[in-house]
Amino acid sequence: MRRSGYPLARLGIIGGGQLGRMMTLQAKKLGCHVFVLDPYPHSPAGAIAMEQVVGGFGDPQAIRTLVERCDVTTYDIEHINTRALQELEAEGHVILPAPGLLAMVQDKLRQKEALAAQGIPVVPYEQCDHPTPEALAAFGYPLVQKLRHGGYDGKGVALLRGPEDLRQKLPGESLLERVIDIAEELSVMVVRGRDTHMVVYPAVEMVFDPRGNLLDLLLAPARIPEALARQAREMAEAAISAVDGVGAFGVEMFHTANGQLLINEIAPRPHNSGHYTIEACMTSQFEQHVRAVLGLPLGSAAQISPCAMINLLGEPGSKGKPHLEGLDEALAIPGVSVHIYGKAEVRPLRKMGHVTVLDDSVEAAAEKAKRVRACLRIVGEFSG
Ligand SMILES: Nc1ncnc2c1ncn2[C@@H]1O[C@H](COP(=O)(O)OP(=O)(O)OP(=O)(O)O)[C@@H](O)[C@H]1O
Ligand SMILES: [Mg+2]
Repeated sequence: MRRSGYPLARLGIIGGGQLGRMMTLQAKKLGCHVFVLDPYPHSPAGAIAMEQVVGGFGDPQAIRTLVERCDVTTYDIEHINTRALQELEAEGHVILPAPGLLAMVQDKLRQKEALAAQGIPVVPYEQCDHPTPEALAAFGYPLVQKLRHGGYDGKGVALLRGPEDLRQKLPGESLLERVIDIAEELSVMVVRGRDTHMVVYPAVEMVFDPRGNLLDLLLAPARIPEALARQAREMAEAAISAVDGVGAFGVEMFHTANGQLLINEIAPRPHNSGHYTIEACMTSQFEQHVRAVLGLPLGSAAQISPCAMINLLGEPGSKGKPHLEGLDEALAIPGVSVHIYGKAEVRPLRKMGHVTVLDDSVEAAAEKAKRVRACLRIVGEFSG
């Protein structure tokens, strides 16, 4: 029997956003001391951690300061200086998921190549180093252009229906994809331990907001046949084994109108589509991530209640200090859990929080989630 000391470990988290905040809560619950790196003092995670190192994700010295203070370092964001991480790893520091994996995922082209090389079905793509009008025309419209580096929350993705959309074209090394006729967007959370043991959550269904490509409504479990759900879970596990991941991973997939299941991308961290696990599953994705990177046994990923989840986004035109409108009405609905991330400023469509709704069926939970959306709003002091 192993004896654990206290604190259990000093856990470093690069990125002080909402994912880091929810990881911090779970790590503290398990008896860890948490240190966060973020450029903004009092970041959502930094505000509740032991200490925040204030510095940028590209700054090797700031990264070193954090990593050297911790037993294990992880991250809640993908845009980190991986060379600095790889150097620290070579010196013997534990950084998980591995910096090499992060560098691969950061480049959408390398990520696709790595998955495709292992026989994982991905959305067909073509490399396009110079997205000139001629190169796009040669690939043929309609198309989806994706920047290889730096995209998040749908930024870095452009749907170009024809030459008339060239104004939306993004500058930089890209991938071009065919526009997939998507029946459902699915996501599967996979957690893989340091000993390669895996647990996999149910496939969930993501409905997107066309305003900003942001997740609009999440339904768990997805309303799909059991055989398809199983296939999605198996494919997600295969993808995370293929990249030798350690930690929690979001695997985003498209179920196409002609019945194919394709992987869109993987996220090497807890994922927006896994927030529902806090209330609706035996073990949350955040606790699993902490357990995985610390080398602890993983918990059960079983779902204990049907569930729906919505993001709370800053209202269009909103700026400044946030105010919540309609919280009393939302909380009066049975089964509603409101999560507020503690961001000091609201911006249009910024993720400010989320709401999970449990009910006897996904449909009933979705209905209540729509009621919550109708009453609960995050507005700024300077609303336009
Ligand atoms: N080939 C495609 N065909 C049709 N729709 C697509 C395609 N690729 C992406 N999309 C749509 O655009 C959304 C964002 O794409 P993707 O996940 O690749 O970008 P991202 O910037 O990494 O987004 P996020 O950070 O939100 O996951 C997808 O969820 C999907 O709705
Ligand atoms: Mg995505």
